[in-house]
Amino acid sequence: MTTEPIPVVLDVDTGVDDACALLLAALHPAVDLRAVSCVGGNAPVDDVVRNTLLVLETAGRADVPVARGAERPLLEPPLHARHVHGEDGLGDLGWPAAETTPDPRHAVELLRDVCRAAAGESRPVTLVPLAPLTNIALLLRTHPDVAAGISEIVFMGGAAHVGNATASAEFNIFHDPEAAAITLDAAADLGIPVTMYGLDVFYQPVVGKAEAAELVAVGGRGPAELGGRLMDFQRQRLGGEVATIGDAGAVCAVIDRGVLRTETLPLRVELAGTWSRGRTIVDRRDWSGAIKHDPHGEAPVRVDVALGVDGERYARLWVDTLLGRVGTR
Ligand code: BDR
Ligand code: CA
Repeated sequence: MTTEPIPVVLDVDTGVDDACALLLAALHPAVDLRAVSCVGGNAPVDDVVRNTLLVLETAGRADVPVARGAERPLLEPPLHARHVHGEDGLGDLGWPAAETTPDPRHAVELLRDVCRAAAGESRPVTLVPLAPLTNIALLLRTHPDVAAGISEIVFMGGAAHVGNATASAEFNIFHDPEAAAITLDAAADLGIPVTMYGLDVFYQPVVGKAEAAELVAVGGRGPAELGGRLMDFQRQRLGGEVATIGDAGAVCAVIDRGVLRTETLPLRVELAGTWSRGRTIVDRRDWSGAIKHDPHGEAPVRVDVALGVDGERYARLWVDTLLGRVGTR
């Protein structure tokens, strides 16, 4: 018996680790990558579009439509993360630019059309946002009918316990907290299940120096070499013996959910706060107990929060896919 590949759409701010996610989604046979939407985040949106096209073309997937989306958060000016992802947002590798051009539609229109088509085929997509949630908030509020074409949202962002952009907040949520709050609220309204693949698991799937060298050695400016070079860049930039595949872990979660430990928990996004704006407040208290005195009440939105993962297995899945050991497309 053969299993149908899972229709997937990525929303990215490519980004070194978004590139890792794109490579996996583009190549793994269990994924049917339908489209990629771009948003400003790690880099300005035009750099994100350029980087995304480059990665997909390197993976031999210039057929996947890529569209430019929001260039700034809903409320605040954009932030960028060149200190993490390099001046070009993709590790300053000097990789040749893609020849393909973006889809002429705005990212929100591309997402709308792909989700509506998926609903029409009765093959709803798994939506995987790996970036600030600006495009997704706009999509769900502007075109709520797309819910019929979305089976679930698995997003990289937030955390139960830690921050990275600030002591409290993870970058994707901190960059556009309003968009994150709107996305969660709209998903709950529309009955779309949500999994939060946050910083509690993000750093666990890692690639060491030897595995990166094995990927680079494949050469030919193909996807394995690109993946290996991105890992080398990240290791050197951030220091340490290993590099995380980062956003690619959320794609692993779509392919291999069994080793991701989640709990369904109430979740709010902090929109105010002097030091805590953008924090995802995961409520781990037992609401059947005596906490009805809490003046805020239980958060109306419940999300499957990733709290543990077999990082070694996800890293192996990523490396094996890039090395062509899992029957790539
Ligand atoms: C997230 O922010 C970006 O740096 C990464 O691409 C990831 O999506 C981690 O906080
Ligand atoms: Ca990202």
